Amino acid sequence: MSTTYRIAPSLLSADFARLGDEVRDVIAAGADWIHFDVMDNHYVPNLTFGPMVCSALKPHAKRADGRAVPIDVHLMVQPVDALAAAFADAGADLISFHPDASGHVHRSVQVIRSKGCQVGLAFNPAQPLDVLDWVIDDIDLILIMSVNPGFGGQSFIDSALRKIEQARRRIQLSGRDIRLEVDGGIKTENIRRVADAGADTFVAGSAIFGKPDYKGVIDTMRTALA
Ligand code: DX5
Ligand code: ZN
Repeated sequence: MSTTYRIAPSLLSADFARLGDEVRDVIAAGADWIHFDVMDNHYVPNLTFGPMVCSALKPHAKRADGRAVPIDVHLMVQPVDALAAAFADAGADLISFHPDASGHVHRSVQVIRSKGCQVGLAFNPAQPLDVLDWVIDDIDLILIMSVNPGFGGQSFIDSALRKIEQARRRIQLSGRDIRLEVDGGIKTENIRRVADAGADTFVAGSAIFGKPDYKGVIDTMRTALA
C-alpha cells in the first residue's frame, strides 16, 4: 500500500502582516494542511498567536473549489486544556500538545476529542515515547519534534530519525490509523530520509516561506517523496 504523504507548511515563517494571503497562497501552491504553531513564552521562549488569529484565518483555509484545508494546531503551551478548547472553538481540525506540558495527559486528550477535533501528541527531541503505552488508542497523530520547539529555521536533529522509526513501530503494533508527523528542519534535501524512517506528514516553515516560489518547493518535496 502506498503512503499518502502530507505537507503542512508552518505559518511561523510566513509574513505575519499578511497571514490571510499567505494561507491562500500556500494552499494554492499545494499545501495539504496549515500548521499553526502556538507559543506562550512560558513552555517555550517565544510568543506567537492565539485562537482569535486562528478563527480569523479559518475562512481562508480552503481550496479554490471550496474544500476546507485542515488547520493543524501545534500547542506549545502550558497548561493545555483551556487553550486547546479555545482552539477547537476557533476552527482547529487537529490539535497537538506536548504531554510534558499537561498534568493529566489523558484528560487533555479527552478535552480535545470531546470538542470534535483530532488529537496529537508532540514529543520534544529528548522526550521519550513511553506515554504512548497508555494513550495510543486515543490519539490520531504523533508529532516528532526534530528541533527544540520555539523557533523556526533550526537544523534537523538526527536522533529524531530513530524516534520516528520507534513511533512507526508503535503505530504498526497498535493497528490504528495514526499520522506520524515530523516538525523542524525539514528541507527538500532531507525529506526523503525522514520519510524512509517512517514519517508521513511533514511540517516545513522556513523551507517554504523562506523562498519566493512556494509551489516550486512543495513540488520538489513531493518529487523527493514519490
Ligand atoms: C518549532 C515549530 C515548527 C517550526 C518549524 O517550534 O514547531 O513548526 O515552524 O520551522 P522550520 O521548518 O523552519 O524548522
Ligand atoms: Zn510546529
